[in-house]
Amino acid sequence: MFKIKTYNKISVNGLNRFGRDHYEVASDINEPDAYILRSHKLHDESLPASVRAVARAGAGVNNVPVADYTKKGVVVFNTPGANANAVKELVLAGMLLASRGIIPGMNYVQTLTDMTDADEMSKLLEKQKSNFAGSELMGKTLGVVGLGAIGSLVAETALALGMNVVGYDPALSVEAAWRLPSQVSRADNLQSLLSRSDFISLHVPAIEATKHLINDESLKSVKEGAVLLNFARDAIVEPEAIVRSLEAKRLRQYVCDFPEPCLLSRDDVYAMPHIGASTLEAEDNCAVMAAEQLKGYLEHGN
Ligand code: MLT
Repeated sequence: MFKIKTYNKISVNGLNRFGRDHYEVASDINEPDAYILRSHKLHDESLPASVRAVARAGAGVNNVPVADYTKKGVVVFNTPGANANAVKELVLAGMLLASRGIIPGMNYVQTLTDMTDADEMSKLLEKQKSNFAGSELMGKTLGVVGLGAIGSLVAETALALGMNVVGYDPALSVEAAWRLPSQVSRADNLQSLLSRSDFISLHVPAIEATKHLINDESLKSVKEGAVLLNFARDAIVEPEAIVRSLEAKRLRQYVCDFPEPCLLSRDDVYAMPHIGASTLEAEDNCAVMAAEQLKGYLEHGN
């Protein structure tokens, strides 16, 4: 009987992949053979000798000490692409929030809850609505930094909306390059992408090479009035540099999936609580893929 320790809430469809006859799956298991988790942070010191594999139900593995575990012979899996559609849809929402007066407009409507006369309300809204006017995405340029599973989906969606898309990925695989629509133009470097984009969406992993990729220096290349979207990882941007760029009115808006204390009080920052992958479908896809990987490894060693 294999024993799987779960961290975080793992979808039932994922857990059902482990056959009840051969697996014991619970959050309070002693001497587990493997872990399955979402965003729980694992530490090297607390790893029991029984653990042979870890499956992260998500794309990033920066909550797992991969190098330390690998030295101990523990295999670490992730689920690339399994939540890509969910993240892509939230990036789209982020672009719309930044370009239309959705949030200020809805906040304003909430101030009218005491009004009882519908005609009076509609007259008032008619006067106010120019304060919430926005602009359209069609015809604007989106720069996609990182053209893997999520970045390439974001690029395709933006094209379908009539946007121009420029991509940059120094580590683009041959397969990923073939999958990219031919209308995605490629920038030779980050600076070139930043200087051409009205919206910039980050889709690179958090690794040493991408730490603070967006900093004071790189932000100098940003086109004035651009919107930066970060649904990848907080470590990719230097938050203080974002504040300086917003203050200088170079960046117009920062939309992110990671609340940072120094950014929260600003009207030009929309921060979400890391919900890019939080859809029923993505949670299922990730958990099912993670469970299949663990089963394959525990039962057959692959
Ligand atoms: C990911 O790395 O794909 C996300 O962090 C997944 C999650 O939110 O659990």
